[in-house]
Amino acid sequence: MIKAKYPLDKFSEIQTPFYYYDLDVLRTTLDEITLHAKKNDFHVHYAMKANVNSSVLKVIKEAGLGADCVSGGEVEAALNAGVSASKVVFAGVGKADWEINLGLENDIFCFNVESVPELEVINELAAVKNKCANVALRINPNVSAHTHHYITTGLSENKFGINMSDLDHVIDLFPSLKNVKLIGIHFHIGSQITDMTSFQGLCVRVNELQQYFITKKIKLEHINVGGGLGINYEHPNHFPIPDFEAYFKIFRDHLQLLEHQTLHFELGRAVVAQCGSLISRVLYIKQGSSKKFAILDAGFTELIRPALYQAYHHIENLSSDLPTEPYDVVGPICESSDTFAKGFVMNETKRGDIIALRSAGAYGEIMASQYNLRKLPKAYNSDELLK
Ligand code: LLP
Repeated sequence: MIKAKYPLDKFSEIQTPFYYYDLDVLRTTLDEITLHAKKNDFHVHYAMKANVNSSVLKVIKEAGLGADCVSGGEVEAALNAGVSASKVVFAGVGKADWEINLGLENDIFCFNVESVPELEVINELAAVKNKCANVALRINPNVSAHTHHYITTGLSENKFGINMSDLDHVIDLFPSLKNVKLIGIHFHIGSQITDMTSFQGLCVRVNELQQYFITKKIKLEHINVGGGLGINYEHPNHFPIPDFEAYFKIFRDHLQLLEHQTLHFELGRAVVAQCGSLISRVLYIKQGSSKKFAILDAGFTELIRPALYQAYHHIENLSSDLPTEPYDVVGPICESSDTFAKGFVMNETKRGDIIALRSAGAYGEIMASQYNLRKLPKAYNSDELLK
């Protein structure tokens, strides 16, 4: 089994905090994805929002994945990394005109359209360029993802996608929109989904909608079921690679593709989360009235997930094998929410110890901020440090 390796001797020479990517873990993850996707003839677009670190992107591009983008910046980053425009999908509820134009100029594979006004603007901008844009309708399937409410996207109360009750109206518009071509439908119900029945529910809804499009005599070339596959944050060493085989099997068994239709996925977290760690040093151990605080030099400016989603990240003291003790592991930011974990049991910790916050490869570095005028974290990878 692949396990992240930490070059502690090298870490001790580097200014903390920083992100560290084990590219062998990433490569093994990608091997699993491509093996099972190829078997099923599925197409995977990497959700760029999870991490655009250049060494990470390079490995993902080499594995042949496409890109799922939600901003002009991400479209640019995907193209600069060498991803073919024919594998770029572009979603997002608020695409600005320059972002749409960027997609049009590069002839990206598809715009995932989230509203009628957006569809009309894409049509207008494509007309100016004398082009015809490929579009997929992002449909809000009203399927629960059973995950944190901040990362649930497929319920009718969420801002994403076109409601099923509005589909008749949207479809009636197409004959008058000469510069867009409807080629598919798109869904994304949420993120960090570990209850596989949620994906089964999505398949059932997609099958129903396929019947609807048949009655409307509309031929769809592709179905895009988004991303969302969760990872094991509790045991990153035991479960470093998500079960892609089981995940893809759900869609193979439950989603009824029509002839010539292709199935697309937009995986982010499941691709990159386990290859990344935030590496930090312990600044102080402070005795509180009833507990000990381990104060790190990393805070929510480097990894915001615990503060924002009450997310759990496994914490490892790489420098200690002393008996364990509970600590509140906190950062230096002037906010009480700057807490990575409360009562976390880890090896006895002292000033200067090196700490790894695990499973931080997705939505870690990319969500860093400069609050408190802190510096954005640097990043290193195993190819450079393990040589
Ligand atoms: N496709 C669309 C349209 C999305 O909105 C997302 C994620 C994905 C694909 C990729 O989902 P994934 O496979 O990574 O679950 N910052 C949050 C996660 C936000 C996800 C937003 N959308 C976190 O740290 O948990």
